[in-house]
Amino acid sequence: MTDATMTVDHLVVDFSTGDGTVRAVRGISFSLAPQEVLGIVGESGSGKSVTALATMGLLAKNATVTGSITYAGREILGLKEKQLAKIRGIGIAMIFQDPMTSLNPVYTVGWQIAEAVQAHQDVDKNEAMAKAVALLQLVGIPNAERRVQDYPHEFSGGMRQRVVIAIAMANNPAVILADEPTTALDVTVQAQVLDSLKTALAETKASLLLITHDLGVIAGLADRVLVMYAGRPVEIGTVDQIFYRPAMPYTHGLLGSLPRLDSQGAERLRQIPGAPPSMVGEMKGCPFAPRCPMRADICDEQEPNLAPVDSQPLDSPADGSGSAGSALDEIDDAGHVAACHFAGDVARLPVASMFPDTSADHEGVAP
Ligand SMILES: Nc1ncnc2c1ncn2[C@@H]1O[C@H](COP(=O)(O)OP(=O)(O)OP(=O)(O)O)[C@@H](O)[C@H]1O
Ligand code: SF4
Ligand SMILES: [Mg+2]
Repeated sequence: MTDATMTVDHLVVDFSTGDGTVRAVRGISFSLAPQEVLGIVGESGSGKSVTALATMGLLAKNATVTGSITYAGREILGLKEKQLAKIRGIGIAMIFQDPMTSLNPVYTVGWQIAEAVQAHQDVDKNEAMAKAVALLQLVGIPNAERRVQDYPHEFSGGMRQRVVIAIAMANNPAVILADEPTTALDVTVQAQVLDSLKTALAETKASLLLITHDLGVIAGLADRVLVMYAGRPVEIGTVDQIFYRPAMPYTHGLLGSLPRLDSQGAERLRQIPGAPPSMVGEMKGCPFAPRCPMRADICDEQEPNLAPVDSQPLDSPADGSGSAGSALDEIDDAGHVAACHFAGDVARLPVASMFPDTSADHEGVAP
């Protein structure tokens, strides 16, 4: 995986608080290939944003971070703020849920895009403003020549997010991190913003780390999916592997809470009863056990590690030519791993059949 644009290896993030240590991220590893879109899904509090913020060096002061994060082959964890700021400008761009986090209300939209351009490119004011107009056109803002003069409050929420996408692509980043880029928006404008994001990817050839609650967004955009639960990845695979052969009960639960295409009228929603565990202090056993219909004694004793869903290629490659090296390659190629003692059995169950149908009483935890 040496050609990966970004790698995260055994990332652990703790926060010290008055109530004890919050173990927000408990060991996450993944790599982002050039132009790959990796989706991260999981319930609120599972550590998605903390993972993204760690890669950008943007965590609060009470965080302790260990592990490794490389960008373009270089370790970036522990870099000084000045060096990180440079990488943030030209290497890794970030899009947050609320566009006003990134936009300054007192400057025009054009000024802000032009400033991002001039921060890293040797162009004069007029050239930077011309680039701002071109970028606004690319993300689909009508009358871009005129609208560069407007202030953020004169734009709708969806258009503001498209401005943020324009700023993100201004310096041709290699990686874009998008944390819930459409969650705060009306359903009707979400698709437009996703289209702008697709344009940004096509123009910049960037890889995308896409954090979202919305599996529909993942289905439309991602190549691979990483499912997080209680600060750890519990399943990683291609979109097809995750959607059609989920091997971890929690993933089944998430898929069950997707509105079904075949439903008539009321959506058939299957919610996961219960809530995620507290992230303060040590955990014993599988963190999903209290909510899991397949829980067994071993689940309370041992937290399962990620392991290939098809164990066959690991032990006895089908062509009989296997060595330890080729077995590892097999994991990278197949890429479908899950953290469940019964992953093989779970993968054979009908998708999302594991949790009760709650469409009658329409409450529960959002995915
Ligand atoms: N500065 C902090 N101090 C203490 N705890 C924190 C801090 N920042 C985050 N956390 C905790 O870390 C855990 C993970 O938070 P994170 O924001 O990554 O969740 P998330 O998966 O992004 O959730 P959401 O879907 O709601 O955005 C949570 O328990 C959160 O309360
Ligand atoms: S390890 Fe056990 S409790 Fe955890 S998800 Fe698998 S079956 Fe459920
Ligand atoms: Mg978050």
